[in-house]
Amino acid sequence: MTKRFYIETYGCQMNKNDSEVMIMSMEREGFVHTENLDDSDIAIYNTCSVRSHAETRVLARMRLGKKRVRGKKGILAVTGCMAQRMGSDLVKKGLADIAVGPYESPDIGGIIRLFLNGRGKNVFTSQEAANFHDRIMAEPGGFGDASWHRWVTITHGCENFCSYCIVPYVRGKLISFKSDTILSYIKTLAETGTKEITLLGQNVNQYGTDSGDIPFHRLLEKAAAVRGLIRINFITSHPKDFSPDIIKIIRDNGNISRSIHLPLQSGSDRILTLMNRNYDMSRYMGIVELIHRNLESYSLTTDIITGFPGETADDFDDTLACVRRIRFDDAFMYSYSPRENTPAAGIQEDLSGVEKLQRLNRLIAIQRGISREKLLERLNMHERIIVECISKKSRLEVMGKTFLNHPVVIPGNKEDIGKDFIVTIKNLKGNTLQGIRLDR
Ligand code: SAH
Ligand code: SF4
Ligand code: F3S
Repeated sequence: MTKRFYIETYGCQMNKNDSEVMIMSMEREGFVHTENLDDSDIAIYNTCSVRSHAETRVLARMRLGKKRVRGKKGILAVTGCMAQRMGSDLVKKGLADIAVGPYESPDIGGIIRLFLNGRGKNVFTSQEAANFHDRIMAEPGGFGDASWHRWVTITHGCENFCSYCIVPYVRGKLISFKSDTILSYIKTLAETGTKEITLLGQNVNQYGTDSGDIPFHRLLEKAAAVRGLIRINFITSHPKDFSPDIIKIIRDNGNISRSIHLPLQSGSDRILTLMNRNYDMSRYMGIVELIHRNLESYSLTTDIITGFPGETADDFDDTLACVRRIRFDDAFMYSYSPRENTPAAGIQEDLSGVEKLQRLNRLIAIQRGISREKLLERLNMHERIIVECISKKSRLEVMGKTFLNHPVVIPGNKEDIGKDFIVTIKNLKGNTLQGIRLDR
């Protein structure tokens, strides 16, 4: 009898892409995807370990999933970063039946088939090169039905070892996929209807440094030259490796996104050193200046951690001052969360959870105001958008994103999805820009 699988995805875009690869692998083995947990025989939880909150949330979901899928004698699989970090424990405790880490999850269909036949083992967390399965799969049509947007993972893992971060431990060393494979995959996508891609890596600027392949800016340039792509995005950049060449390539190619995500983490040089980020504020500001001088229109977004161990009131004020000075379009802001076995977890924390949160909330309030002002600057501008979906608020409207990655709602219908339009921004409602098509 056909078995159905359900999948829930947490964490970063790489996990989203991994889930797509897993869906493909499961479908190849004859399993059928369902959006409904109660209707599934196999529930897959593709998890994230980056902060303890992320883990607690998934564990609660898994407990619920276990009851519902097991009610029908189904199985529960944990994949992704928590599978790598604590998969064997989760299996031992009975919360998961099988744990498959990021190295082997692209082959999850075969793994689960063997397991169901009673022949497979139940913990797959090797980080041996031999067990690494390439995740770029250049099949016509990509993953399932042709779609306007695709994630394209260009590197796996991370070797930067920022002192607070668990990613290098759970994802393993930097592995750059071959540029030829990536580019022929992108061509296949473009030929089969994809209009927009996002190149993914924990630090895309390090692309090729492990394998001696072309540098990131060349890969970006070659991707931009693929016919048929309306927009190319890339995340994440690391200030220590971000080269001026990237800005030139963006400037010279109208189909590369003007939204640059450049995680700052802290505005204090002392804290940046403790974080092992390998840049200081003067380097960061140098990049911001260069972007400003070279790109007519751009948006800058960032990640910031508050309450890193040893962060004084002065260090925190430095971060606030940077945020006010740089005026990011948006920021992902987090309260520091100690992660087991990372160097920062060994540093004594002086702040209580409440104090860390107070700092976070002060930062969020300031950034919110700036984000709103930046959005208001877009009023009356002409922007190019790619339509993504029907608006959540009205069936007579659609939502698309601009080249600065701002969501804009315009009148439209489902026929518009995947198409690009030039719009005039007319209004800001809540945090959403509203526009009208120029050709209507
Ligand atoms: N590779 C990317 C993203 C890593 S995870 C980068 O280098 O920027 C996404 C964000 O989570 C990080 O940028 C950081 O701001 C945050 N983060 C990572 N570890 C954290 C921790 N232990 N506590 C709080 N935030 C953390
Ligand atoms: Fe973590 Fe730093 Fe690697 Fe980003 S670059 S994934 S923050 S270790
Ligand atoms: Fe989370 Fe793993 Fe991504 S820890 S942020 S899912 S690499």
